[in-house]
Amino acid sequence: MMKAKTPVRIPPIDFGALIDDAAPFWRERLEELFARKHFILGTQLAAFEQEWGEFVEPGRARAVGVANGTDAIELALRDAGVNSPKQEVLTTALTAPFTGIGICGTGAQIRFCDVDPDTLLMDPRDAERRITKRTAAIVPVHLYGQACHLSLLRTLANRAGAVLMQDAAQAHGAAHGGKPLTHYGPYVTYSFYPTKNLGALGDGGAIVTPGKAVADRLRQWRDGGRKPGGQVSYFVGRNSRLDEMQCCYLRAFLTRLTDWTADRRRLAARYDAALADCPGIRLVKTHEFSVRHLYVIRTKRRNALREFLAARGIFAGIHYPVPLHLMPAFASAGLKRGSLPNAEQASREVLSLPLYPRMADSFADETAGAVRAFFKR
Ligand SMILES: Cc1ncc(COP(=O)(O)O)c(C=O)c1O
Repeated sequence: MMKAKTPVRIPPIDFGALIDDAAPFWRERLEELFARKHFILGTQLAAFEQEWGEFVEPGRARAVGVANGTDAIELALRDAGVNSPKQEVLTTALTAPFTGIGICGTGAQIRFCDVDPDTLLMDPRDAERRITKRTAAIVPVHLYGQACHLSLLRTLANRAGAVLMQDAAQAHGAAHGGKPLTHYGPYVTYSFYPTKNLGALGDGGAIVTPGKAVADRLRQWRDGGRKPGGQVSYFVGRNSRLDEMQCCYLRAFLTRLTDWTADRRRLAARYDAALADCPGIRLVKTHEFSVRHLYVIRTKRRNALREFLAARGIFAGIHYPVPLHLMPAFASAGLKRGSLPNAEQASREVLSLPLYPRMADSFADETAGAVRAFFKR
């Protein structure tokens, strides 16, 4: 007989709570949309782009909405002139495969570097060792809500004559050294996949840039190479538009984002306090500007702990179980097991504990208590 599965009591995210929290805002936006009946490239997108740019860096950043975070990476790189197999793009091995998919979509060769063992972010020293004459772009990923060491990476990119293209799919509102991400480079890409800190109720993404000319070109990239309102394609762009309906939800959720990030930070601090001296685990080192997308702990007994939590109705995720250089999709990078030891070890050890806006403090306390109980046995 099959063993009955324990029902999830503490989920990884509670969409219902977020939808309810922002209900008056999205209702108003949807009424506007249905009154206007203009579903692609309309006023909701224009307003969301304005609001998202203001959020990322007031008075300076310009946002261009696209269909998803993967397209955002590919289109930003293409706009920077990355499009040939003779070029290389260097990124971290510990990320979602979609970082790599966006890079490979340009036609360039993907290359990987290792992560810092404390923060699990791209290690600038290892990146430096792996830069070649062909390196056209460096793509740091602001993993788990925390920005990479952007001042060092910007210096490396400038020295190599490469573009710095930041994947901020997990870092809505994050900063480095108190400065917004757009301070460090011309392209910052976001995903609005529903589980992200700012998520749509479907797919969505954006590229944020301080440059007006860049933003204007990106608007052509996402709409078949056409100029706004035009019918002529000037280059082979893509069809990667962020639709009006998703913009209604995104605008509504954006009004709540500051409060939701405060929830994440409060809950993460609670976990930090409860788990700081827990034997058997190691916490990922974070800095004050992290927006705490995921709360990740590390343990050699990861799979057993995950099952122990699941048996108590607590859902813990793994971000990520296989580093990109060991996935068949990225075998062309030519890296064998053992070549990026920090990323490989992390992928065996990481476990993401439940953390989402509006989550009860008691859920964090109960989860932390269960983790401690596991190691006490
Ligand atoms: C780090 C990272 N990069 C890129 C992506 C791709 O975003 P999307 O799913 O919107 O294409 C994601 C999300 O899946 C991600 O977490």
